[in-house]
Amino acid sequence: MRIPFGTISITPKAKELVNEALDSGRVSNGKYVKEFEQGFAKIVGVKEVVAVSSGTDADTIALAVLHDFGAKRGDEIIVPALSFVSTGNAVLHAGFIPVFVDVKRETYNIDPTKIEEAITEKTKAIMPVHLMGKPADMDAICQIAKQHGLYVIEDAAEAHGAIYKGKNVGSIGDMGAFSTYVAHLVSSVEGGMITTDNSDFADIARALRNHGKFCHCQVCSSNAKFGHCPDRFLFSRIGYSAKMNDLEAAVGVGSLEIYEKVLAIRRKNLLSFMKKFEAFKPYLTTFREEAHEQIGPHAFPFVVAEGAPFTRGELYEYIEEKEIDARQLFSSMPTQCKGFEFLGHKAGEFPNAEFIGNNGLHIGVHQDITEEHIEYFMQTIKEFLETHIK
Ligand SMILES: Cc1ncc(COP(=O)(O)O)c(C=O)c1O
Repeated sequence: MRIPFGTISITPKAKELVNEALDSGRVSNGKYVKEFEQGFAKIVGVKEVVAVSSGTDADTIALAVLHDFGAKRGDEIIVPALSFVSTGNAVLHAGFIPVFVDVKRETYNIDPTKIEEAITEKTKAIMPVHLMGKPADMDAICQIAKQHGLYVIEDAAEAHGAIYKGKNVGSIGDMGAFSTYVAHLVSSVEGGMITTDNSDFADIARALRNHGKFCHCQVCSSNAKFGHCPDRFLFSRIGYSAKMNDLEAAVGVGSLEIYEKVLAIRRKNLLSFMKKFEAFKPYLTTFREEAHEQIGPHAFPFVVAEGAPFTRGELYEYIEEKEIDARQLFSSMPTQCKGFEFLGHKAGEFPNAEFIGNNGLHIGVHQDITEEHIEYFMQTIKEFLETHIK
């Protein structure tokens, strides 16, 4: 048996819409982008969605919007030390400095008790990440943000379908950023979505995705006919070239059609993995779902516990040999990712992020995984533990 890490369901409707877009000749930012934005707004429960070309662009542009609201280049954004590297990259791409805060070992998410000590007079926002679809502690984060006059931008790239105290993630902070890359529940192959209830933020994000061009006229603000105004080469902001195209959006519209079905399958898989995995304590751990939340079913993460008589490398090799496709559970950006070396952090500064960076793995919970696959995975782990625990 083989357990693939990811899958993508391109629906018949998506294929039909892609062909329609190709035939229409309007393949850039057009009607399917609008339709995808409106459909995504409905599932997240926000007024505005701005589609862009990747989740990284969604993070970057959401942050760059803050330049219109008093942020200066070189200001600081608080982010968790553990995330997919693009969270930290996005802060730098938007012209800010990432200030890293360690995560909690049990949740993989930013530790709110450590946020206040990281705030300076340059701090403009907190960017929590709902890692592996587990909602960050939004009450505590929003409370700190309110006290210090900071914006909250949720990196919800991998948290489609996650719910925190009755609200969808991506609708709790000032803005949210999702990825619609193939690995995610709603997919447009490549893509990203900025979510917000604030139409000023959305308008500026629309300008930023289109090189910073901003005009209030109906034609330009809908991006329907770039360059219709006489000032077509006057740009008011440092923008990005990050529009989603209609072919991607057509795939996304098809993906929305099966959203509820795919969400239910992935949730069932994730909960089954989590329940069965309890048998492997104390050698292997995973996260828990609390009563106030619903984890967005992105993947199944697990961590080799401290003191276990085997390494992550040994476990990884064993399960890969059994054709179970696994990935590392990200790294501590400031101390384990070379690109951030120039910020001067030293190993040991973020013990929990580094521990997970050294000991964590994750595998898929996607819609092509069945109960049989889950049983096979559990059996494989059981055999591994039997051979490694004396
Ligand atoms: C937490 C997080 N942020 C940002 C991104 C960036 O998304 P993309 O790969 O679409 O640029 C990802 C990727 O999945 C992610 O996991």
